[in-house]
Amino acid sequence: MISLIWAMDKNNLVGIDDKIPWHIKEDLLYYKAKTNGQIVLMGDQTYYSLKGYYKDKPLPYGKIYVATIDKNLVIDGCEMVYDIIDFLKNFDGDLWVVGGATIYKLSLPYANRLYISFVKGEYKGNRYFPQINFDDYMLIWENDTEKVRYTIFERKK
Ligand SMILES: NC(=O)c1ccc[n+]([C@@H]2O[C@H](COP(=O)([O-])OP(=O)(O)OC[C@H]3O[C@@H](n4cnc5c(N)ncnc54)[C@H](OP(=O)(O)O)[C@@H]3O)[C@@H](O)[C@H]2O)c1
Repeated sequence: MISLIWAMDKNNLVGIDDKIPWHIKEDLLYYKAKTNGQIVLMGDQTYYSLKGYYKDKPLPYGKIYVATIDKNLVIDGCEMVYDIIDFLKNFDGDLWVVGGATIYKLSLPYANRLYISFVKGEYKGNRYFPQINFDDYMLIWENDTEKVRYTIFERKK
């Protein structure tokens, strides 16, 4: 099962340069609860951005796949993915795709589940999630708070 998890504002905004445009603690806790100890896939930009937040602490995932098109790039403690499409087509097991914008776009066609945190309001930034055809998905869970509408969508068979 391939799950994408992300937070976006009303304009599908997910980032500003290498950062998240907002700081919403409850969403961070939600994200951590879902992805802690899991197998994750992220782009190299997101990897370096997370390393900036975590400094010398280990990232809280079970196994980290890092996608890059730079075949010379090797990151200690991570499995490198140089062909993301081939990787997604052949992946067997539970994988969480954790960004960023480029990797979400490439992974969306292979996603079984979408964990979307709809952040209320409008922020400034320059990285966007692509348009989603919600006709392809059904909402299987939601929880609305003052700041965020948490949802899980499952691809229709
Ligand atoms: N709101 C959220 O939930 C959320 C979550 C995560 C990240 N973000 C945000 O997303 C932004 C980062 O997104 P981004 O698009 O700049 O970077 P990214 O998705 O983290 O990484 C993009 C990298 O993927 C590699 N790539 C491209 N095509 C590929 C392919 N076919 N196979 C393998 N690798 C491939 C490229 O590597 P090369 O460098 O080698 O070209 C590219 O640099 C930041 O603002 C971050 O804060 C938001």
